Amino acid sequence: MANFEQQQGLARSRTVFGAALVAMIFGGCYPKTAAAPAAISPGSVTWAAEKFPGSTEASLAAGRETFLAKCNGCHGYPDLMATSDEEWPAIMERMGGKSDLDAEKTKGALQYVLAARHP
Ligand code: HEC
Repeated sequence: MANFEQQQGLARSRTVFGAALVAMIFGGCYPKTAAAPAAISPGSVTWAAEKFPGSTEASLAAGRETFLAKCNGCHGYPDLMATSDEEWPAIMERMGGKSDLDAEKTKGALQYVLAARHP
């Protein structure tokens, strides 16, 4: 019959295995998080005006408000720099759905995020 030390060892390896499994399942997909982003910079406004004609400081600020209100509901605020410009649109589409954003708000949040990446 297993002695106490062996049982403790087994319990410990089960804990380690369980933690590794959880890390494998969630590690790749949850975002790297960061502090709530600061107000949009003039550089970002200029970058966005060229990239998204019709965007303004006000529209980007509204996108930021959406981001601040919705994007820490399930995880912390995602680190905007940890995801590339190319990856953001598909991810925002998915996360906008999770956040019950309509198409307009999803677009606003995406334009804000991309602009904030280019201060
Ligand atoms: C209802 C819960 C929920 C809300 C609200 C939410 N997320 Fe997420 N988010 C998740 C979950 C769960 C994952 C990990 C699984 C996945 O990627 O779908 C995730 C993953 C992510 C990732 C990493 C994705 C990857 O593939 O690298 C980013 C970035 C992200 N979220 C951004 C956002 C943004 C931006 C918002 C606000 C518009 C938001 N999330 C709102 C649940 C949520």
